[in-house]
Amino acid sequence: MRTQVAIIGAGPAGMLLAHLLHRSGVDAVVLETRSQEYVASRIRAGILEQSSVDLLTSAGLGDRLHAEGFAHRGIYLRWPGERHHLDFVDLIGRSVWLYGQTEVQKDLVAAGTASVEYDVSDVALHEVATDRPYVTYVDASGTARRLDASVIAGCDGSFGPSRAEVPGKTWERTYPYSWLGVLADVPPSTDEVMYAWHPEGFALHSMRSPTVSRLYLQVPNGTDVRSWSDQRIWEALATRLGHGQDGWKLTPGPITEKSVLPMRSFVQTPMRHGRLLLAGDAAHIVPPTGAKGLNLAIADVALLAPALIALVKENDPTLADRYSGDAARRVWRCTHFSWWMTTMLHLGDDPFDAELQLSQLRWVTSSEAGATGLAENYAGLPIGF
Ligand code: APR
Ligand code: PHB
Repeated sequence: MRTQVAIIGAGPAGMLLAHLLHRSGVDAVVLETRSQEYVASRIRAGILEQSSVDLLTSAGLGDRLHAEGFAHRGIYLRWPGERHHLDFVDLIGRSVWLYGQTEVQKDLVAAGTASVEYDVSDVALHEVATDRPYVTYVDASGTARRLDASVIAGCDGSFGPSRAEVPGKTWERTYPYSWLGVLADVPPSTDEVMYAWHPEGFALHSMRSPTVSRLYLQVPNGTDVRSWSDQRIWEALATRLGHGQDGWKLTPGPITEKSVLPMRSFVQTPMRHGRLLLAGDAAHIVPPTGAKGLNLAIADVALLAPALIALVKENDPTLADRYSGDAARRVWRCTHFSWWMTTMLHLGDDPFDAELQLSQLRWVTSSEAGATGLAENYAGLPIGF
């Protein structure tokens, strides 16, 4: 088989890339190890920067997002005795949307523009430093296949095989805590996302719809989800989110899903080797505190799609040559922001750090300069930044 662009991975990065290539008349085949049902139902984060919304809208993927997504003006920051709303629209004139990654994924599948082979195995990349790269794999029926391409896009997440084919460096940071995430069938107790610092650990109240809440608790690494009963979860959320303070109440409800999410940061540089270019989690992971993962994947693809179109249609490598440098600059900005939000809000073991965190929280909620810096990063910088 032959295609112009072989895409490894059918997450949001791979599917959005296939969609944009298709709209410009470039053929692509997407190879995915998981089933279509698995990929479409994974629960992930839910915040889209304005530039992500603009890109999805201009790519014809915005109908359901505009009908069912929620435009938020900002976020709440809370710590014992304090609750502050940062209004990003007032501060910088743009903000974020609440629309689940699961929904973005469904919209990409529904567009029907990507040609995807699900349930493949043994995916291996070959000759990526030459002009004739190819991929070998075993298809869903067990038949060995070879896919030749002009270029390969590695969109296979942090555990896929693409990153190992790119010589360079993986910069890494681990964090001494994880998140316990729950989905609950209960109307959110907050109108916008609430981040809470607390001496017992961080908590976050987000939502998926007017009837479904998404909540998180800081837990130690290695936590067994079975040690957290529903009752223990609601009690910890009530304490950390400040139930009963300044008239705010947390309404508990039936928990429908629970899982422990470890946290790390990594950045692979460069993001390209010859005819293999990486995008999304294949090239970088951020901790979820700034909700940047999906937005970074979308921003990568916004640069990668035009670069690949120019390369395969006009044999013009100019944008492809700039891709890694341009993408990595934004990745490092978001890596810093995600690290900063994470370390400002999570309980560590040094009381000195706790005082620094509280001082920083007071600054970002009382100084316009501090608030504006947070807003600009949270709501996202323009795609080309
Ligand atoms: N061959 C083919 N596909 C693979 C392979 C492989 N060997 N290994 C992994 N994959 C698939 C995974 O099953 C997954 O569907 O690659 C896809 C990668 O998708 P994501 O993990 O969703 O990554 P990405 O598309 O970059 O999206 C980034 O996902 O993890 C979140 O926070 C992150 O929101 C961000 C978004
Ligand atoms: C979510 O809605 O899942 C979410 C929101 C904000 C974050 C992380 C996750 O920072």
